[in-house]
Order: sequence, then structure tokens, then C-alpha cells
Amino acid sequence: MSTSQPHGGKLVDRINHSYTFESLKNEIELDATALSDLELIAVGAYSPLEGFLGKKDYDSVVNNLRLAGGLPWSIPITLPVPQEKADQLQIGEQVKLVKDGTVYGVIGVTEKYVPDKKKEALHVYKTTEEAHPGVKKLYERPDVYIGGPIYLLHRPKKERFTEFYLDPKQTREQFGKLGWKTVVGFQTRNPVHRAHEYIQKTALETVDGLFLNPLVGETKADDIPADVRMESYKVLLNNYYPEDRVYFAVFPASMRYAGPREAVFHAIVRKNFGCTHFIVGRDHAGVGSYYGTYDAQKIFSNFTKEELGIETLFFEHSFYCTKCENMASTKTCPHDQEHHVVLSGTKVRALLRNGETPPSTFSRPEVAEVLIKGLQRESVTVTT
Ligand code: ADX
Repeated sequence: MSTSQPHGGKLVDRINHSYTFESLKNEIELDATALSDLELIAVGAYSPLEGFLGKKDYDSVVNNLRLAGGLPWSIPITLPVPQEKADQLQIGEQVKLVKDGTVYGVIGVTEKYVPDKKKEALHVYKTTEEAHPGVKKLYERPDVYIGGPIYLLHRPKKERFTEFYLDPKQTREQFGKLGWKTVVGFQTRNPVHRAHEYIQKTALETVDGLFLNPLVGETKADDIPADVRMESYKVLLNNYYPEDRVYFAVFPASMRYAGPREAVFHAIVRKNFGCTHFIVGRDHAGVGSYYGTYDAQKIFSNFTKEELGIETLFFEHSFYCTKCENMASTKTCPHDQEHHVVLSGTKVRALLRNGETPPSTFSRPEVAEVLIKGLQRESVTVTT
């Protein structure tokens, strides 16, 4: 077994397929984020959470990066409803959690509270600007938060990449079967370019296995869609990674773009999936220029190693250096910037969407090829 303990000591299990919900009067309509959060709470990915945050935990997370009991937690997992809906709900009531006519779960309402969204934005996203996609989403969601423990009654159907959805219980078992004592988790919302591959493989030199765990929940419109990315991961894994050193599964959460705070959240969740180590490179979960390049590394100094329970592996900005003829970072390369192949995410996405191949020193040609084809296919589907 991997040596990692779930956050809080116990893997939460809130799945209940035999719950009879038919007599329940009220229901809450979930958005995509709330539905994915519901499932991730239930399967233990968000251990120790057993439901959506009540006010005490919420305030503590927003103000102190911790749950009220002191355990590190960085992103408020909330269930927002409109005021009219909140008015109908009684404290102590069991309420159905519904999306598009399907009852996925229930919540035992323990609290209703109105958050200070500006404050949440400032603390969690470090900005109140609506131009930030996470803040925009926060403001768009309804205004009253419902807190309370949940049960998941019905698993959301996985229309695509079905075999790559694994619960923490399953990944933990798999890591055990593989005999891995140390496992490094890798979060990404992007294709795996050379720099990603470099930091993953550098980590793999010292740990037993790599858990490649791309996020496939909601992302902003100009990010590369998950199904296009999936093809690029397959090409890479089939050709450039030793099969017995990598485990691949998808992470169905919504992307928050909360930079440093999301890096902590991503680390804790991967700990629940059984990882002992977690990679944080440059501008993890960042967007635009809201965060400093290494803010997502610095934030970890708020926690001791013991209370976090997962070891972070920090990487400097990595690039191909034409003089070194190698991947490198400023830690290992003495040459001037003019020799470094550096492209912003926005620039690469623009190139690929135009059908142009980025330099092979930035992205493997096989990867670029499936991305260009995939994006062309998507644009045909969208415009026809
Ligand atoms: S993220 O939003 O999911 O963090 P991305 O897929 O770009 O986006 O990054 C995945 C991980 O790789 C993050 O830890 C990020 O910091 C790291 N990373 C991405 N590009 C580089 C790079 N050029 N050098 C070092 N680390 C990088």
C-alpha cells in the first residue's frame, strides 16, 4: 500500500444507493460544479468533508486556510441556492439534490447563510475582478449557501473516458497492487507539453510511480477541451512513458483558477487518492497575471509537513534550452533567455487553433498533431 493517509485520517464514504428519497418535499437544482463536488465528497476525494461547508468552516477556510477544527483546507466547497429557494428550506430537513430531472443526492440542511462574496473573492482568488474566471463564476452562482452532510444516491453517468474515472478507494488499491510506496500526483488542465513531461519524469527518477490525473471538469472556454487533451495523453503514454511506472485517471472537479489556494486543494485531494507527493511548478492553476510565478509554492509555508500529509515537489519554470540542447530551468541552465524556448499557454493554444505546430522543442510533434486535429474537429462540430 502507498503510505499516504487520507486527509483527516479516514476516507469518507457517503454513497447510499438504498436511500428512499421519494417522500422528500424540496429539491435543490445543482450546477455542474455542485454536482461534481457532490460526487467527489461522497467518494472521499474531499475527505474529511462529509458535505457542503457550514458557516464556521466556511469562514475559517476563507480567513485561515483551515477548517474550523484546524485541518488545512483552502477552497470553500459550497452549495449556493437562490434566496427564494433558501426561504423554502427548513433547518433539519432532508432535501433532494437534483440536476436535469435526476435525483443524485440528498443534503441534511444544517445551515443557511449569506456569504460575503467580495471577501471570498479577495481571499480565495486574490482579486474581486470579474475578468477572473473563478470570480466570475463565484458572482454568477446564487447568493445563499446551504451547509450540511450529503449522501450520493446515484452516480452521475460518465459519457466519455468511462474507464478512467476511479474513486480514491480504487486508486489506493491500484497503487498497492503496483507495490508503489511513493506516488507523485500531477494535476493538469492542459496537454502535456515538454515542460510537463520533464518535471513529471524528473520526479519519477526518485519516486515509485506517477499518478497522471488531468482535470476534466468544467474549464474556461478557451482551455483545450478534455476530449482533445485525452487523445494527446494517450499518444504520450503509449510512446514515451514506461507503462508500469504511470497510473492514469481523470479528475472530474471544476477548475477554479484560484492559483495558490487551488494548488493546496489539488495537493490535498491527490493525497486522498493515495499520493505521497505532489508536483507544483510555475503558476499552478493560475490564469492571466493574477498570481506571482511561485505564489502557488510559497503558500505551502502556511502548513507543516505533518499537517499537510503530502510532500510537495516544487519545480522552477522549465524550458528547452537550445544551448544545453536539453530541458532545463534556471536552476540547471547558465544560458541567456534568448536560448530558451518559452511560449505562453495562450500563445500555444492560439497556434494550435490556427493549425500551426509549435516548435518540437516545446511540444512533441505527435502531441501537437492530435491536438491540431482534435481542435479542428471541435470547431467543425461547433460551427455546423
Ligand atoms: S494547471 O492549471 O492545471 O496547474 P498546467 O496544466 O499548465 O495547469 O500545469 C500543470 C502543472 O505543471 C502545474 O503544477 C504547473 O505549475 C506545472 N507547469 C506547467 N508548465 C510548467 C513549466 N513550463 N515549468 C514548470 N512547471 C510547469
